[in-house]
Amino acid sequence: MTRHIVFANRKGGCAKTTTAVNVAHSLALKNYRVLLMDLDPQAHATLSLGMVPNPGVPNIYTLLDGGANLEDVIYPSRIANLSIIPSSRNLSVVEIEGPCFSADEHRLSEVLHSKKMDMDYVIMDPPPSVGTLSVNALAASEEVYIPMPMHFLAMEGLAEMVRLIYQINAAWNPGLSLGGIIPTFYNKNTRITKEIEGDIVQTFGEKFLAPPIRQNVALAEAPGHGLTIFEYAPKSIGALDYDALASFIDERH
Ligand SMILES: Nc1ncnc2c1ncn2[C@@H]1O[C@H](COP(=O)(O)OP(=O)(O)OP(=O)(O)O)[C@@H](O)[C@H]1O
Ligand SMILES: [Mg+2]
Repeated sequence: MTRHIVFANRKGGCAKTTTAVNVAHSLALKNYRVLLMDLDPQAHATLSLGMVPNPGVPNIYTLLDGGANLEDVIYPSRIANLSIIPSSRNLSVVEIEGPCFSADEHRLSEVLHSKKMDMDYVIMDPPPSVGTLSVNALAASEEVYIPMPMHFLAMEGLAEMVRLIYQINAAWNPGLSLGGIIPTFYNKNTRITKEIEGDIVQTFGEKFLAPPIRQNVALAEAPGHGLTIFEYAPKSIGALDYDALASFIDERH
């Protein structure tokens, strides 16, 4: 059975892409067949794997627009076991065109679930807004993990995300559930971190608090080289943390 996982948070810059890319690579290193799906017109996940976003080749936009089949948009990456559906700028049209666009909220789900896939994990990296693209990703997934920086107002953003999950459940996908909350840019010594962790455990229960990802400069540098953390700095705390997170997600099943 393929597990469809989305890393979502409507706020920007909370490490969705960093998490999607590095969890995908870590699961591939654990010998799972992984498909990373870049659903963001910024194409940061595509770039993070060292690929150049190219609107001229079949990509996620072509797939959602009905111009290509699933097989046509899946590309091998240089990493064993890891394939990618790349994105490019032309994907931004999807959010702007809204209802005129042929992709409704179910489009991705229909495409992904229409036939059996030769994958253990499909990992989705949506943009930081709640538009057509994020809703498509949430409608096509069984599990949503929320990367969340531990700072002021974090719980407010989390409450919004939980409301969104309920809305998705009611309107499009009753099978979607919260996998966990991932503390990102983590610094265990601050009081706010302890407060927010306490709030998460109290509200959701301990098992929904995923292992944290500490602040680590190598994680910020790696994408600029088109590399994952496991290629760029395999001994860094970033690699260690993402390995632990991937194991948590794997064992969560
Ligand atoms: N643990 C970390 N330590 C240091 N820098 C990090 C860490 N995690 C992510 N970053 C950096 O923070 C920035 C934002 O991360 P990222 O792009 O993954 O967030 P995002 O949620 O995908 O953003 P967007 O909302 O634009 O899609 C990037 O420059 C990334 O390299
Ligand atoms: Mg991103």
